[in-house]
Amino acid sequence: MSDVAEPQETVELKIGEESYSLPVITGSYQEKGIDISKLLKTTGHVTFDEGFKNTGSTTSSITFIDGIKGILEHRGYPIEQLADHSSFTEVMFLLLNTELPSATELSHFEQKLKDNATPPVGLRAILDSLPREAHPMSMIGTIISALPGFYPESVDSWKNEDIRWNTIYRLLGHMPAMVAYVYRRRQGLAYIDPDPSLGYVENFLHMMYGEVNAEVAEALDTLLVLHADHEQNCSAATVRMAGSSHVNLFAAIAAGNSALWGPLHGGANQKVIEMLEAIREDGGDTQKYIDKAKDKEDPFRLMGFGHRVYKNFDPRAKVIKMYTDKVLDALNIDDPVLDIAKGLEKEAIADPYFSSRKLFPNVDFYSGIIYRALGIPVPMFTVMFALGRLPGWIAQWKELRESGQAIGRPRQIYTGYTKRDYTPMEDRS
Ligand code: CMC
Repeated sequence: MSDVAEPQETVELKIGEESYSLPVITGSYQEKGIDISKLLKTTGHVTFDEGFKNTGSTTSSITFIDGIKGILEHRGYPIEQLADHSSFTEVMFLLLNTELPSATELSHFEQKLKDNATPPVGLRAILDSLPREAHPMSMIGTIISALPGFYPESVDSWKNEDIRWNTIYRLLGHMPAMVAYVYRRRQGLAYIDPDPSLGYVENFLHMMYGEVNAEVAEALDTLLVLHADHEQNCSAATVRMAGSSHVNLFAAIAAGNSALWGPLHGGANQKVIEMLEAIREDGGDTQKYIDKAKDKEDPFRLMGFGHRVYKNFDPRAKVIKMYTDKVLDALNIDDPVLDIAKGLEKEAIADPYFSSRKLFPNVDFYSGIIYRALGIPVPMFTVMFALGRLPGWIAQWKELRESGQAIGRPRQIYTGYTKRDYTPMEDRS
């Protein structure tokens, strides 16, 4: 692992007649960032970058993405290798501790998760007080937000290392049961207690369905690995922004979870299946939907296509596509929506609108088909994303804690009225 090297290079910025020298920081793969942290003080200017398309908000040693080459690595390990060889719990350990665990370390880590597999019973009462039809992301958000109430000492998880680790184990340990509770509450089924003899993903399936299919468990484990972290995306950046106020882990994760819900982020997996279903019900005319997506007058977008960072392919989508066939075969499922997805992908990729804008299927394009094959209802998909992304969010919050970074507080360019006098009510038109 390499830290950011001392700046050797500078760039010159000219404002009017004045020249300013800005240091350039260099990452592990020689990626460059112009350090503007003293710009306001020295020049009176801020930078402007709506949507942070060109702004590095932090240094980080957790995840590396090269969007042009389609590379995703966690702590240096390529996602394809982790998907092939690692378990979800092993990847959790890696994200949190930088190195892959030894057998003893992994079994100790997994035991900690098992010790924390049972959430406070009061969470069930909270879920029971929500309408059954409530969106699962509202349900999971509500019970994540409730956790500091059950564990008051967790408010010191920023300050105190022992409490920090206890809170991390609690959250990771509780999450499978919490997701299963959400599912069973919506289905109107009785809650199932964890089974300490089972592994993390098997136990999750046991609490969801009361039974465990080994092939399903293996596929789900891989899907969760593929979602484990994705550097400074909308939800991780939200976790860091909230965490920078030194708020406790549970609260920061609740913030990230809310950010995930949106259809442009984790909510896309639900929208993909809804779109594929709509195409099927509309007679399967994929070209019609491609044309809609290309029409600038039409707000419709091909869900599961495009990515802020990946501009050739999403390496996670490649692995998922392979697993989709494997899971459907293993479960002996013939899903007509898969054929529509494959047709849509082929036609969109061949279309200059999509190729010229570098729009390719992303992780969400095929994940929904697998979730559906596993019997997970469509509105639950984003909660499944949250289950997978949880260790990444925690690793981001923990890294922020260890970095001593300042509170996040962007600037703005104000475009409203300049100062004016109050108008009495009778003078207003
Ligand atoms: N369908 C049709 N056109 C699109 C799409 C799409 N899915 N995505 C982008 N474009 C067009 C867009 O209209 C724009 O065209 P033009 O240059 O003519 O104005 C161009 O491509 C660039 O789009 P952008 O919105 O500036 O790109 P962005 O980097 O801001 O947005 C995105 C990335 C993922 C939000 C966007 O591609 C999108 O809305 N995709 C659909 C939603 C989706 O699948 N989200 C899941 C992302 S992966 C999971 C995750 O990490 O959250």
